[in-house]
Amino acid sequence: MGDKGVDLSVELCGLKLKNPLILASGILGTTAGLLKRVEREGAGAVTTKTVTKERRGGYPNPVIVVLEHGLINAMGLPNPGIEHFVDEIRRAKSILTVPLIVSIAGSTPDEFQYIAEAVRNTGADAIELNLSCPHVSKVGMDVGSDPDLVYEIVKEVRRVVDIPILAKLSAMVPNIVEIGRAAIEAGASGLVAINTIRAMAIDVYARRPILSNLFGGLSGPAIRPIAVRCVYELYEELKAPIIGVGGVLSWRDALEFILAGATAVGIGTAIAIRGLKVFKEIEEGLTRYMIEEGFSKIRELIGLAHENPV
Ligand SMILES: Cc1cc2nc3c(=O)[nH]c(=O)nc-3n(C[C@H](O)[C@H](O)[C@H](O)COP(=O)(O)O)c2cc1C
Repeated sequence: MGDKGVDLSVELCGLKLKNPLILASGILGTTAGLLKRVEREGAGAVTTKTVTKERRGGYPNPVIVVLEHGLINAMGLPNPGIEHFVDEIRRAKSILTVPLIVSIAGSTPDEFQYIAEAVRNTGADAIELNLSCPHVSKVGMDVGSDPDLVYEIVKEVRRVVDIPILAKLSAMVPNIVEIGRAAIEAGASGLVAINTIRAMAIDVYARRPILSNLFGGLSGPAIRPIAVRCVYELYEELKAPIIGVGGVLSWRDALEFILAGATAVGIGTAIAIRGLKVFKEIEEGLTRYMIEEGFSKIRELIGLAHENPV
């Protein structure tokens, strides 16, 4: 029970979270020290940057475009590769008190399985499968749009780990429920929706695309209504545990996801816009709302929008 008699804790695939706010993958999740910093600022759980089998250097600059309602990024999944990253995961586990989710990506079911096996003995609390990065070819989206491949990937990872598996989905598919269902049927414990949406910006004076990779992923408030729709559809059809991600800046945004059916909410771009204080701000706003509206447990609000059709 938190301040003022309001209980913000949730249970996500067996993990106990003191509040439903999770650091999204790719923002500050590169070192144990940064993850600890985010915990201190109030996150209920933290996710690492996505790690791949081999080291990736990432794309040359520019890799980010700042827009009025969000960001387009094409970092290219830079990371040291799993052999090196396992030490960082162990370090993080030794200093964190909140659950640690490790995000992984690969091109084939075997590659996902290889990385998951390396993560297995680090003490990580959950594995998130990045099936949805929109700007790295043959990784992410390219594998996450095919339900049969998603099924195989989750199945191969499930063979080697017994911690919760979260499948991170893309909104850029004709039917997100079909992909979510394949993941759950193969043994995923929960779903994460959504990753960034493939996008582009052009410099009108240089008369060429701004990003070195031409295309990147749009995040921030611009994608929130799409993400809320995805969470609503997934919850309605699958009733699986869901982490809602996409453009959460305020308590009201977080609550929209929870009412749509999210058990927890990921926060990424808001950190770049508002700073790390955003975790506390959202927590305070949720607490205020619950007192005013007469709710004592935040879990009572999960999926409520489904019970109140227009
Ligand atoms: C700079 C940046 C890097 C990101 N890197 C990753 C990543 O490595 N793996 C991943 O699954 N998602 C990554 N994402 C996507 C976020 O985790 C999140 O799904 C998306 O940005 C939508 O949430 P937001 O609007 O709160 O940022 C990244 C997003 C940004 C802005």
